[in-house]
Amino acid sequence: MSLRVAVVGSGPAGVYTAEALTRQATGPVEVDVLERLPTPYGLVRYGVAPDHTSIKSIAGYLRRVLEQPGVRFLGGVEFGRDVSREDLLACYDAVVYCTGAMVDRRMGVPGEDLPGSVAATDFVNWYCGHPDVPADRFLLDSPEIAVIGVGNVAVDVVRILAKTAEELRDTDVPEEVLARLAASRVKTVHMVGRRGPEHAKFTLKELRELGELANADVRVRPEEAAASVEDLPRQVRGNVEVLQSWAARIPAGRPRRLEVRFWMRPVEILGRDRVEALRLERTRLADGRVVGTGAFEVLPVGMVLRSVGYRSVPLPGVPFSEATMTVPNEAGRVADREYVAGWLKRGPSGVIGTNKSDAAETVRTLLADLSGRAPARHADLEPLLARRGLAPVTYDGWRAVEAAEAALARSLGRGERVKLAGAAMAAVLEDRGRREDGLPDGTEHPEGTAGAASAAGAASAAGTAGAAGAAGTAGAAGTAGAAGAAGAQDAEGLAAR
Ligand SMILES: Cc1cc2nc3c(=O)[nH]c(=O)nc-3n(C[C@H](O)[C@H](O)[C@H](O)COP(=O)(O)OP(=O)(O)OC[C@H]3O[C@@H](n4cnc5c(N)ncnc54)[C@H](O)[C@@H]3O)c2cc1C
Ligand SMILES: NC(=O)c1ccc[n+]([C@@H]2O[C@H](COP(=O)([O-])OP(=O)(O)OC[C@H]3O[C@@H](n4cnc5c(N)ncnc54)[C@H](OP(=O)(O)O)[C@@H]3O)[C@@H](O)[C@H]2O)c1
Repeated sequence: MSLRVAVVGSGPAGVYTAEALTRQATGPVEVDVLERLPTPYGLVRYGVAPDHTSIKSIAGYLRRVLEQPGVRFLGGVEFGRDVSREDLLACYDAVVYCTGAMVDRRMGVPGEDLPGSVAATDFVNWYCGHPDVPADRFLLDSPEIAVIGVGNVAVDVVRILAKTAEELRDTDVPEEVLARLAASRVKTVHMVGRRGPEHAKFTLKELRELGELANADVRVRPEEAAASVEDLPRQVRGNVEVLQSWAARIPAGRPRRLEVRFWMRPVEILGRDRVEALRLERTRLADGRVVGTGAFEVLPVGMVLRSVGYRSVPLPGVPFSEATMTVPNEAGRVADREYVAGWLKRGPSGVIGTNKSDAAETVRTLLADLSGRAPARHADLEPLLARRGLAPVTYDGWRAVEAAEAALARSLGRGERVKLAGAAMAAVLEDRGRREDGLPDGTEHPEGTAGAASAAGAASAAGTAGAAGAAGTAGAAGTAGAAGAAGAQDAEGLAAR
């Protein structure tokens, strides 16, 4: 009898967990990878910057894992909404939670909730075409924008804001997002670090790219970059040297300007009905802690992008530490037959590859715990989902989305793929679901097997009629889900514009 494991989340941690299970298990193993979205790969699809195509190609490796015998992708199934901890423990010998860190940390300053103050999580989701954020959510109509934080996500966000739409044309950015980037009125982007250049979290390779932007001059103030490089570790020393070299640069008169600031912390976001300015305070370190000096500066920005880190959210019924914002574990073990891997296990840090060794550790613990034990499961998940009116998006359903994205890119003369957002993805999934059920074209899905449709409803939250039109599939997904999502869109759009 096979060992049956449910992996919750199909980002790098979830897929590496599935891979480690197939590699480390000495007997037969079956792995179901459950994912709330209709599409796999987590932040590799909806986080890694669209212009970092070589990093995105890691999806090719992850795909081979999902295609292995014994591994099954079940998209559009959300833990906590569609299935509970008890359901999974009844159906599988073990459960591994790999749901990442999907929401933003807060800065804790007045004005943080004003329209125009935006979490980087939302902005990244927007340009990556994530179903949670509609394509019309952001209008880049402010000439000046501040990005708070000096980590790699801040660097990604700044780079996307600084590049021209033409430079992003061959990426997978959804059509409507590309149109909005093309219409951007942004002239100056301030990237603000609350400590010095020697404390910045970005990595050297990523930092260097900002100095090579064709469309933007980068400016650093010599007095803010004046750190001694003597005893610094190699990477950090590299960062400081690059920043100091930029401080000596003469601007070349490019259309956009990037101001990289240090020793400034946000103290208030100003504005009546929306962001009108950002108040910063000069800082210094006292006993290793950031303190204000009482010297202030106001930046006339119309948008503040808060890129101060991600955090995990608790999963219903699963232990969670509010102090570390992770699931407490010992080498991946959370409780009997329950495990954790990835950002949910160790917090939002490290590169994609870090999740591979992390998942391998969790799987070692799991297999050691379960070795020699009798199977614990009694039920099957699929009938349970069917009783709840859910038919998961299959791996073939996802491949249909991939094929449609490649076709869209070809029809637009844009790169390898263009992300389908909203109605267009919903239409592809609806069509695929019909075919999997053996129904003729144009037949409505019977009630009770609407999983593909419900996942499609989730997908349609990003409602991009333009992309749907271009894909030649407009209209097919005119579902109640799409209508509901449109309502949500209006509210979000007002808040963020
Ligand atoms: C903006 C950004 C850019 C990045 N760029 C790079 C880069 O260029 N190079 C690099 O090496 N690293 C990069 N990283 C880091 C890398 O993406 C992470 O290390 C990695 O994605 C973490 O993997 P994970 O599987 O733990 O989480 P995730 O990738 O977030 O995957 C979690 C998955 O769980 C799913 N999920 C969440 N809740 C539920 C639920 N309740 N039920 C079912 N499924 C659920 C999510 O939809 C998601 O698919 C980046 C990170 C960010 C935030
Ligand atoms: N290309 C890549 O490889 C790539 C791309 C994107 C992301 N990633 C990885 O993904 C992970 C997450 O990246 P991230 O950029 O979100 O997080 P991060 O590396 O932790 O950076 C967060 C930044 O926010 C600042 N910050 C935190 N709270 C603040 C506050 N209240 N006010 C002002 N500034 C504040 C931090 O400053 P302090 O240091 O002072 O706290 C830091 O500069 C990292 O491991 C990153 O390397 C990798």
